[in-house]
Amino acid sequence: MPQKWTPDSWRAKPAKQMPQYPDPAAVVRVEDTLRNFPPLVFAGEARRLKKALAKVAEGKAFLLQGGDCAESFAEFHPNNIRDTFRVLLQMAVVLTYGAACPVVKVGRLAGQFAKPRSSDTEEIGGVSLPSYRGDNVNSIEFTPEARRPDPERMIRAYSQSAATLNLLRAFAQGGYADLHQVHRWNLGFVERSPLGERYRELADRLTETLDFMAACGLTSETTPQIRETDFFTSHEALLLPYEQALTRIDSTSGDWYDVSAHLVWIGDRTRQPDGAHVEFMRGIRNPIGMKVGPSMDTDELIRLCDILNPENEPGRLTLIARMGHDKVGQKLPGIVRAVKREGRAVVWSCDPMHGNTIKSDSGYKTRPFDRILSEVRTFFAVHQAEGSHPGGVHVEMTGQDVTECTGGAQAITDTDLSDRYHTHCDPRLNASQALELAFLIAEQLKSERLGVTRRAVAVGA
Ligand code: PEP
Ligand code: CO
Repeated sequence: MPQKWTPDSWRAKPAKQMPQYPDPAAVVRVEDTLRNFPPLVFAGEARRLKKALAKVAEGKAFLLQGGDCAESFAEFHPNNIRDTFRVLLQMAVVLTYGAACPVVKVGRLAGQFAKPRSSDTEEIGGVSLPSYRGDNVNSIEFTPEARRPDPERMIRAYSQSAATLNLLRAFAQGGYADLHQVHRWNLGFVERSPLGERYRELADRLTETLDFMAACGLTSETTPQIRETDFFTSHEALLLPYEQALTRIDSTSGDWYDVSAHLVWIGDRTRQPDGAHVEFMRGIRNPIGMKVGPSMDTDELIRLCDILNPENEPGRLTLIARMGHDKVGQKLPGIVRAVKREGRAVVWSCDPMHGNTIKSDSGYKTRPFDRILSEVRTFFAVHQAEGSHPGGVHVEMTGQDVTECTGGAQAITDTDLSDRYHTHCDPRLNASQALELAFLIAEQLKSERLGVTRRAVAVGA
């Protein structure tokens, strides 16, 4: 029998990546304040996302999860939120067309403020200070004051999340997400992209499809599905005092939900089966994610599935593989096979970002677009070979025209990186790289679909 779970049962377990607050009483005061704040999302919405993800697990939908590596207080601006949301919608439309199935849209937005770090300290010029751990813990400037963990930051992160979510809800439901408008933006991208010709056919087919639908009377005025969209939020549930303070009993079901986001995930550094993060996550009923890096062992993964999803509920658990382009082909097949053999209903998503971070010659942390694409391609190929559904992608991207990842149609080079390198943490795809990735994935999804159909016809199915 598992031990009894409570929202604070994680406190008895070893917790990695947690800040050492100098004033514990101040943390308690902030937790008490947060506990009385309204929920950011509703349990019913989290259940709706879980249902949508169950479809992904069945192979009948595709998951697109994306946004900032780390949101920041400094970059908080409605235009930034709008632009990231817009690119996610553009990607989703392209993917919907390629996959010919619904695309579940989840932002790394409205709460992505805590970062795991590979080292507790950072050293510059012989000075050693605590590492930056995200804006709801400390500040990025390299001074002792800035790096001191401050619990009051959790209140600010909550407020920024609430305001961001409010805007996202308005965008999703208020006409901004209209399919025709999103398609027009995509046509603009095809016009401008140096590789536009390659994407034109897909874009033209979409134009025809929308015209055909309009001729049938399916327009923005008649059809809410064309005018509005479902959009969900997610972040890494790393800072457990914050997550616990926002964990509430849902009056409808009597179950506990973390109402800080629709979906929360466990990072690759905090997924120890007997650790605090896994303990916290097992008791909330939200859909959850877990990063699966190259050090994951097959037996451990199955054990984690047992702990996190004991009833094997489809849609509950999304496994986000982040192996690296050079390891995915070797590491992924065995674990995909084991998960399938053990009959685990999971969503398999591909994070092609976190295993492909390198230091460029000019000293910037970057990710070559080719490697990102290569990891996605191998992810698809592995699932095809194993007879499993490549359920989705998880990307770090922004709607801004940054220069953080090299390559892509704009051919960003190492020397270009310094032009507009703005990230608070990891390098993100810019708007055009993100959309290019979506077009390339759509091509892949489409050719797989056609390949599957052709094979079915050939065997007389
Ligand atoms: C992240 O998603 O920003 C992250 C830190 O990922 P991972 O846990 O996979 O390293
Ligand atoms: Co990151």
